[in-house]
Amino acid sequence: MPIHAKCKLVKKEKLREDIFKFSVESTEIAKTAKAGQFLEIRVTDEIEPLLRRPISIYNIEGNLVEFIFQVKGKGTEILKEREIGEYIDILGPLGRGTFDYKNKKNIAIIGGGIGVFPLYELAKEAKENSKVNIYLGFRNKELVLLEDEFRKVSDKLVITTDDGSYKEKGFAIDFLKQDAENEKIDGIYACGPLPMLKAVQSFAKEKNIPCQISLEERMGCGIGVCLGCAVKVNAGEELVYTHVCKAGPVFDANVVEI
Ligand SMILES: Cc1cc2nc3c(=O)[nH]c(=O)nc-3n(C[C@H](O)[C@H](O)[C@H](O)COP(=O)(O)OP(=O)(O)OC[C@H]3O[C@@H](n4cnc5c(N)ncnc54)[C@H](O)[C@@H]3O)c2cc1C
Ligand code: FES
Repeated sequence: MPIHAKCKLVKKEKLREDIFKFSVESTEIAKTAKAGQFLEIRVTDEIEPLLRRPISIYNIEGNLVEFIFQVKGKGTEILKEREIGEYIDILGPLGRGTFDYKNKKNIAIIGGGIGVFPLYELAKEAKENSKVNIYLGFRNKELVLLEDEFRKVSDKLVITTDDGSYKEKGFAIDFLKQDAENEKIDGIYACGPLPMLKAVQSFAKEKNIPCQISLEERMGCGIGVCLGCAVKVNAGEELVYTHVCKAGPVFDANVVEI
């Protein structure tokens, strides 16, 4: 059951002009959250905007739950103005589809742009028992995020930029493919822009590597009521619709249609 709580904002960091990291206190959410789950956040106690905004859990540390968001529109613009000591209305953890990394010896985590946020908690937890290879792709040097943080929770970290302005030039998936030629990868976990997810899905299917992808579809309610986040999944012989907010956001790449 998700918890509905007013969580105290105890730390606020500006990672980039448009990107903020918030740490909120919630023993209950921290105790139950799994890697890949998300929060539905009411950005203000005022009437508008009424709809909560979905934001992934980035990190859990003791009784702290951390999330990172990019300012996109009205909601996140208001959220970024919240100050330390204020209480934020949060529903979570949400999502039944979470990352399943148990019993995998050698995993590949691949993310792109702001899709890298939900992958940190996964890498941190998986690193306790697995070799963790991380591939993060960004458009250019200015957009690279969290390199030091991901380095600490990985055995290997590859950073790529589309234009070659920082580290490796090219797409992260190509570096994962190269490594998969030389070592057995037991599982792939991905979150990022759709073209990246499609490329990862197609590679994993071709090589028969278990793969999970996290979809950050647009959402309304976040709890299966508004039907705003429908996605097609393979149910045996037929394709049926399900909801990212309830069945996801993490899906088996063999099952979900993207
Ligand atoms: C499961 C899930 C997890 C997410 N996790 C994160 C996260 O960890 N960090 C983060 O920064 N964002 C995340 N998002 C995206 C985030 O929810 C949206 O950026 C946010 O709701 C935008 O709200 P807004 O009011 O600022 O913008 P709006 O005014 O609602 O929209 C402004 C612009 O943002 C675009 N936009 C809105 N929602 C999305 C979306 N879901 N994906 C892409 N573009 C969108 C709109 O098309 C529009 O162009 C996640 C989304 C989902 C569904
Ligand atoms: S967001 Fe409302 S049903 Fe998924």
